[in-house]
Amino acid sequence: YKVLIINGPNLNLLGKREPHIYGSQTLDDINLALVAKSSELGLRCECYQSNSEGEIVSRIHEAMGNTDYIIINAGAYTHTSVAIRDALLGVAIPFVEVHLSNVHARETFRHQSYLSDKALAVICGLGAYGYEAALSFIAKK
Ligand code: DQA
Repeated sequence: YKVLIINGPNLNLLGKREPHIYGSQTLDDINLALVAKSSELGLRCECYQSNSEGEIVSRIHEAMGNTDYIIINAGAYTHTSVAIRDALLGVAIPFVEVHLSNVHARETFRHQSYLSDKALAVICGLGAYGYEAALSFIAKK
């Protein structure tokens, strides 16, 4: 399978950003490990990050017809973006929603997601391991 891993706004700051919540690994560290894990699992993965909602929507559109699964941590857009939800539904690519932190143990505005009811699975609170867990799940499909 071809898997697209999308990280949204502020996730480029991983390692520096609130490390007590998000861990000390940078996004590059995480992505390198995910590329290695993907080839172990027989998957091909591509990692994409953007701070811009429109760019994320466009990247999802580009995945149409060439991507089997999407793993997405939409960051704060999770809680606000009808546009990202509509893009995922528009391309009809099954997706797994990932959050590093346990969003349900945090502010109430993080409890609501525009993606969860359409996701194959939702993983939160496992840190960077959440992305690996999503890859393993996809590899077994
Ligand atoms: C996050 C949780 C979101 O609420 C937050 O806005 C993020 C990161 C996570 O990975 O835990 O940017 O998606």
